[in-house]
Amino acid sequence: MKTELIFLGAPASGKGTQTKKLSKELGLPHVDTGSMLRAEIAKGSEEALTAKGFMDKGALVPIEIVAAIIKKRLNEDDCKNGLILDGYPRSTEQAVALEKVFSEINENVEFSLKVINIDVNEDLLIERIVTRRLCKDCGKIFNTKYMAPKKDGICDDCGSELYQRQDDTEEIAKNRLTTYKESTQPLIKFYSDKNLLFNVDGNKSVDEIYNSIISIIK
Ligand code: AP5
Repeated sequence: MKTELIFLGAPASGKGTQTKKLSKELGLPHVDTGSMLRAEIAKGSEEALTAKGFMDKGALVPIEIVAAIIKKRLNEDDCKNGLILDGYPRSTEQAVALEKVFSEINENVEFSLKVINIDVNEDLLIERIVTRRLCKDCGKIFNTKYMAPKKDGICDDCGSELYQRQDDTEEIAKNRLTTYKESTQPLIKFYSDKNLLFNVDGNKSVDEIYNSIISIIK
C-alpha cells in the first residue's frame, strides 16, 4: 500500500524537523516546497527570481510556479511507493490542484492518504523562527535556544557551517504568520471535512511529537 502524508502547520511549527526524521525512518521521499524553491533560486532562473520576491515578503509564491514544481517532483520514480509532503498544499486552490495530481499518479494504485496538522501556540512561533539555524550542506535544522549545535555555528552531523534563512527575520516571520492564517489555516477544515485530518500537539518535545505522529501512521 502506497503511503502519502501531508503535513500542515504554521511557519516554524516543526514540519521540517519531523518530516526529515520520518523520511529516514519510513524510507519515503521528503518533498518540501520551501527547500525546492530555495534550490531553484540558487540556480537563478527568471521564474525563481519571481518566487524570491514573494518569499522575501512572507507571501505565497504564485500557484502556477509551485504547482509545476510539485507535479514534476511527484512524477519522479522515488515517489512511486509514497511520499511525505511538507509545505504543500498551502491554500485551498493548491489542495484542489493536488487532488488532481494525486488522482493521476494514483490511478489503479492502492494508497493511504493522511494529513497531519502540527499545532503550536502562536507565541512560540516567532521565537523559533528567529533562533533557527540550518546546515548549509546537509540541511539539518538547529535552534540556538532549543536545539543548539554542540559547537557554535557548526553542524553536529557533517561539520559544515550553519546559516540563518533570509526570511527568518521577525518582520518577515510576522507576514508569514498572517499569510498562514489567511491562506493555509482553512485547509484544516478542508481536510477535516474529508476525514483525513489528524492533529498533533506541537508544543511538546521533538521526540514526543514524533511518537504521536508514528502512532497515527502505523
Ligand atoms: P518554508 O520553507 O516551507 O517555510 P514555513 O512553512 O514557513 O515553515 P518553516 O520551514 O519556517 O518551519 P517548519 O514548520 O518546517 O519548522 P522547523 O522544523 O524548521 O516556506 C518558505 C516560503 O516559501 C514561504 O513563506 C512561501 O513564500 C514559499 N512557499 C513554500 N511552499 C509554498 C507553497 N506551497 N505555495 C506557495 N509558496 C510557498 O522548526 C522551526 C524551528 O523550531 C527550528 O529551529 C527547530 O529546531 C525548532 N523546533 C522544531 N520543533 C521543536 C520543538 N518541538 N521544540 C522546540 N523547538 C523546535
